[in-house]
Formats: sequence, structure tokens, C-alpha cells
Amino acid sequence: MYKIPANTLFIGKQLVFVPECHSTNTLALQMTQNKSATEGTVVITNNQTAGRGQRGTSWESDAGMNLTFSIILMPGFLAPKDQYYLTIFTSLALRDYLEGKIHPGVTIKWPNDILVHEKKICGILIENQVQGSHFIATVIGIGLNINQTRFAKDTATSLKLITNREIALEQALHELLGYVEARYIQLRQGKWSDLREEYLSHLYWRKERHRFSSGLTNFEGVIKGVDDSGKLIVETSEGLSYFGNKEITFIQ
Ligand code: BTN
Repeated sequence: MYKIPANTLFIGKQLVFVPECHSTNTLALQMTQNKSATEGTVVITNNQTAGRGQRGTSWESDAGMNLTFSIILMPGFLAPKDQYYLTIFTSLALRDYLEGKIHPGVTIKWPNDILVHEKKICGILIENQVQGSHFIATVIGIGLNINQTRFAKDTATSLKLITNREIALEQALHELLGYVEARYIQLRQGKWSDLREEYLSHLYWRKERHRFSSGLTNFEGVIKGVDDSGKLIVETSEGLSYFGNKEITFIQ
């Protein structure tokens, strides 16, 4: 499985397939450390047994049903302070791919959950290797639910649940890598404000009034956007507040 290199310029030309592993992100990080990866190397498995998610959570995926893979990039053109653009371009690429299959209803829940009709279809875990003021490498881990139809949480969904069709995983990977490469090239070309605007335009709950919690407090607010460091900007009765990744929960 996953033997054919992607039909791209560089992402997925080196494809490392392991039938089973704990986490493709962990494997990819090891490869960047021992210098066995080139830019665009993709590490993919059929059975990820200890998948890692954001905020220290785990990522569950039934063997052989979904895409679980990591892309190694070396964005030397990006300063570590601008790392949020990695989240932006990756979320947009996933959204591009899904929008071709499902329309409308694909949104990006800040910072980088991809939702379809309000259910999570894809999770992204980006882990950076930075030295001083330079990027050595970044590992972009993607878990995209394709053919699995039963989930432990009813907030999860898959392409099959939505379209009622089975999709070949290798084909899905190739298509998706094409979108990732196109968005990464856009970033490399410096089209940051275009990427940012597009990302904001697809943000879940943007400009709507909803309930959130932060620490022990529940409050109502309206998502206004995201600042340069990636913090979520929410307008509440007390004015604008800025939240980092672990500092806010969406309620309803
Ligand atoms: C999230 O919490 O939403 C992020 C989930 C990211 C899961 C992917 S699956 C491939 C890669 N390897 C991991 O261990 N995690 C990421």
C-alpha cells in the first residue's frame, strides 16, 4: 500500500509507509532529528496505535479505514513567530480537498479542526523544530476520517458517513497532497494576506454570538478574528479578549 509517489513537485515524492506504528508524527520527528528526511517526506501508516492529538489528547482511528500521516517540511523562509501560517495553509488545504467532495458545510474550527456540518472530520497536529530564530523542520500530522463509520464520539464524522461512498485511501492521499503543496507554495510565495483572509472567511462561528468558557468562567461573545500570533479574538461585553490554544472552549 502507498507505493506510488504522489504526482506533485516535492510533497510525497519520498513516501515512507509503515504498516503499523504508534504515531506518524513521532516517527517523522525522529526522521528530522536523524536527518533521514527531505522536504516533503510523507510518513504514513495503516494502523496508528497511539495517535497524538492537540492539547495532549489522543487520536483514535480504526486500522485501514482512514488517513493518518505526517508531512515533513522545512520552512526556512518562515520566522518562528509566524508559525501560525503553518496552521493556516494546512487547514485551507484540507478544506480545499473536502470542499471538492462536500459542498457546502466545510468549516475550520479555530485553530485547525476541520468540521463538516459541525462534526469533526479531520484533526491536525503541527510540531515544530526551531533553533534560535530559525525553523529546522515542521511535522504536519493529519488524521482525516475517510471510510470509518462508527466513532466513540458522536461529534466525529467521516467522508463515508456524509457521502455514503467508499473512497480509496491512496487516491485520497494523492489528491490531498496536491492541495497541500499548492497552499504551501502560496505561503512560500509570500501570499500571506490572501491565505489569512481565506482562512478567516471559513472560520466556524465567526461573526456569530455564541457561548464559550475559559478557566472557570462561561461567557458570551463573537469571534472577530485571529491575531498575528494565532490567538483567537473574541468580543465580549467587556471588549476584545485574546485566547491561546488551551485557553478557551467552544460551548454552544
Ligand atoms: C487533533 O487533536 O485534532 C489533532 C489530531 C492529529 C492526528 C494526526 S494522525 C497522524 C499524526 N500522527 C499523530 O500522532 N497525530 C497526527
